Amino acid sequence: MSISIRPLNPFFAGEVSGVNLAQPLSAAEVAELEAGMDRYAVLVFRGQPLTDEQQMAFAMQFGPLENAHGGNIPIAVSDRRIRVGMNDVSNLDKHGRPLPPDSRQRLFNLGNMLWHSDSSFRAVPAKYSILSARLVNPRGGNTEFADMRAAWDALDDDTRAEIDGLVCEHSLMHSRGALGFPECTEEERRLWHPVRQSLVRTHPVTGRRSLYLSAHAGAIVGMETPAARILLRDLTEHATQPQFVHVHRWQLHDVVMWDNRQTMHRVRRYDERLPRDMRRTTVAGDAMTVAQAA
Ligand code: OGA
Ligand code: MN
Repeated sequence: MSISIRPLNPFFAGEVSGVNLAQPLSAAEVAELEAGMDRYAVLVFRGQPLTDEQQMAFAMQFGPLENAHGGNIPIAVSDRRIRVGMNDVSNLDKHGRPLPPDSRQRLFNLGNMLWHSDSSFRAVPAKYSILSARLVNPRGGNTEFADMRAAWDALDDDTRAEIDGLVCEHSLMHSRGALGFPECTEEERRLWHPVRQSLVRTHPVTGRRSLYLSAHAGAIVGMETPAARILLRDLTEHATQPQFVHVHRWQLHDVVMWDNRQTMHRVRRYDERLPRDMRRTTVAGDAMTVAQAA
């Protein structure tokens, strides 16, 4: 078997064939997929049934996994549906039943319906996310990806000069606050204190620049908050125009892998009375985008 990647758009999102993600990859295969990620930023793999252990082993070939602590509302290990080390982005409780409408976990997860980049609320934000479809919802639930390199490239020179060098503050409190998520606990406030991120990033391998936006961004250092939020909304509206967006329509056992350094994503509404079982592994980033206090 040899890997090939079919572009879904000229330089954004590719569909990979000729690889079995359940088996260890050769160094050459890992390098080919990394090169594919650098080029396409989103890779789609069809027909890849994985166990949680296989999904974690696949992810770890691209670097250490992110420590998921602080990325969710604090829940007891005994209340988890899936193992520590995996992010549960389903709509299910530990018995596999859809969460009730007033469930705090459900309301928190609805934040994934806002355009975001995973873990932009961490000082060292995520590199890759890998999402595996274990049960597909029959109505809605597409995941959309926006190419933040193309969005940067399409900005006019004045806007580029205006925003280059700006530093944003990101926090889960901002994205959840924007939805009117119920009052945060003391512990959540402590876990979710804001971190700083550059508004413009440069890819470490390709050198391409991209906008680094996320629903978690709620302030810009040195700017009045309303002005900062208008600017962030305006840039987000620009970056998520249809010409920059790839829509993924899930089939059972799809795996989608994306580079959080050069894309944003969101999931669309679906029938929450029925299950949608999606499990994510996250490859940790290796650097802060801007220096900050510990
Ligand atoms: C995620 C996420 C989208 C989805 O896993 O990071 O935002 O389609 N999920 O469930
Ligand atoms: Mn996400």
